[in-house]
Amino acid sequence: MSLPFSRLIQWDPVYSVHVPSIDGQHRVLVSKIRELQEAMLEGRGGEVVRPLFAALNKYTKYHFEYEEQLLKKHGYAELEAHHQQHASLIAQLHELESKYAGGQLSAGAPVLQFLRTWLLDHIGEHDKQYSTFLRAQGVL
Ligand SMILES: [Fe+2]
Ligand SMILES: [Fe+2]
Repeated sequence: MSLPFSRLIQWDPVYSVHVPSIDGQHRVLVSKIRELQEAMLEGRGGEVVRPLFAALNKYTKYHFEYEEQLLKKHGYAELEAHHQQHASLIAQLHELESKYAGGQLSAGAPVLQFLRTWLLDHIGEHDKQYSTFLRAQGVL
């Protein structure tokens, strides 16, 4: 099996939003996607995709709610837009899961590529936007 990516997916300080509790949750999400990558490299991607979707659905819900509660508590002006982003991400995850369950997608590189972009683009583009705000509020 060819390598789906030349590098393993891993946490990088560039993704930090400088709020330790949130960084910790983002690390958990990154590690779940990394588990899939490692399983694929060992030729057992098909075994872990279903449990991975279940774990991602559960943990993503927890994480998004945590973020939104924190943003709400501190009066973040862009909360509604951020909530919409989260809702869109959940819908995308469900769509991917349905395609996989329906046999339209195999447990290969496309799933991994999607999840990697799905998570890291949101952190890099949208979570980073509240980072300065929360730090100015003294959130650690
Ligand atoms: Fe996040
Ligand atoms: Fe977020």
